Amino acid sequence: MSKIVPQKKIRILLGVCGGIAAYKSADLVRRLKERDFDVRVIMTESAAEFITPMTLQAVSGYSVHDALFDREAEAAMGHIELAKWADWILIAPATANTIAKLSVGICDDLLSTVVVASSAKCFIAPAMNQQMWASSVTQENISKLVSRDCHVLGPASGEQACGDVGFGRMLEPLEIAEQLVDYQQGQGSNSLPSNGLAGKRVLITAGPTVEAIDPVRFISNHSSGKMGYALAKAAQKQGAHVTLVSGPVNLTTPYAVDKVDVISAQDMLSAVKNRLVGCDIFIGCAAVADYTPVDVATQKIKKNDNDMQLTLKKNADIISWVAAQSKKPFVVGFAAESENLQQFAKSKLERKKLDMICANDISEPSLGFNSDNNRILILDKKGVQLQLPAASKEKIASDIIQQVSDRL
Ligand code: PMT
Repeated sequence: MSKIVPQKKIRILLGVCGGIAAYKSADLVRRLKERDFDVRVIMTESAAEFITPMTLQAVSGYSVHDALFDREAEAAMGHIELAKWADWILIAPATANTIAKLSVGICDDLLSTVVVASSAKCFIAPAMNQQMWASSVTQENISKLVSRDCHVLGPASGEQACGDVGFGRMLEPLEIAEQLVDYQQGQGSNSLPSNGLAGKRVLITAGPTVEAIDPVRFISNHSSGKMGYALAKAAQKQGAHVTLVSGPVNLTTPYAVDKVDVISAQDMLSAVKNRLVGCDIFIGCAAVADYTPVDVATQKIKKNDNDMQLTLKKNADIISWVAAQSKKPFVVGFAAESENLQQFAKSKLERKKLDMICANDISEPSLGFNSDNNRILILDKKGVQLQLPAASKEKIASDIIQQVSDRL
């Protein structure tokens, strides 16, 4: 008879730092325990200003550790035992101060000491004011931690407790717990998301544009936005700050992604122009209308007995504008082709001065526009070619983002 070997629970040491997001820590412990993780909590001194040790003790089921020099606590479970107990250390919220200390190995409280004393995989969910997060010193500290195999989760963008708006909000507890489950399921395989885009700014266009003819009629195409939204999700999972400029689609905005809705190609160009400063990677996945009506009728055009002629003018090429900037990001284009895939894509790569292009063969209706799958041929300006076999847009997106990350 075969013996059932119970699976060991992953032991997570949750480090809570002193930021307003600490009030979410109780929920985070609950979400982690629901997903069968064993959770113990360390609090920094300032975290206790935002949430009580009693609350975290009640939800975790363990006494909470908060002092480095506490004889009783050391006798029960000292900092070295805690460091050995943990399979993973999750610091959430991680303040700019703790991130800075960890980046240089300062050990002046229990949490920083345990991190240095432990060989556990470390995850960091930053939470701070948007300007503190954007500051070069925090970004340098984060890069150091990433280079030491720390995995950064978020932060998300949005309104902050101080009233500012921008990147710096801690990811929601549910999202952190889900990302850890994804990590656990990917362990040991190649599907593990890397953190290669941590702190990078990525601007992505997605979906169709809609060019008005009159108040009820328009010119557009069959782009559903699925490919662009999958790219946004994949880049966010690699730690990037993602802004998605989206034409009209029927999709949910991926978590922690900043979305800007646009309608026409002209709107899309303006939105891109307004958000390009500081951008490290630009991905033009939108199916932008090449032409737009010269005149948009203000009233519904009436039918008569004659044929009708519509005069169109050329839209500006958004991606070419991005690639022509003196401080240009790494620019990735798409080319949907129904014939001569490689030749047409290569000519777009050169003509638009792109760094990389993803060519989709749209001769098969089950691939490309408005479908769940895609097949991509990647070409870059150095002449490297890579065929990604037909797969879901999520899988293709994560492979494309990995290719971009490898080239940066
Ligand atoms: O949205 P889905 O249903 O998921 O479908 C995804 C997709 C098929 C739309 C996507 O994978 C794709 O291929 N998008 C590009 C479509 C296309 O053919 O683009 P293009 O050849 O017109 O343009 C080439 C590149 O220039 C693209 O990066 C495009 O975004 C950009 N472009 C084009 C015209 C313009 N005025 N401005 C631009 O920036």
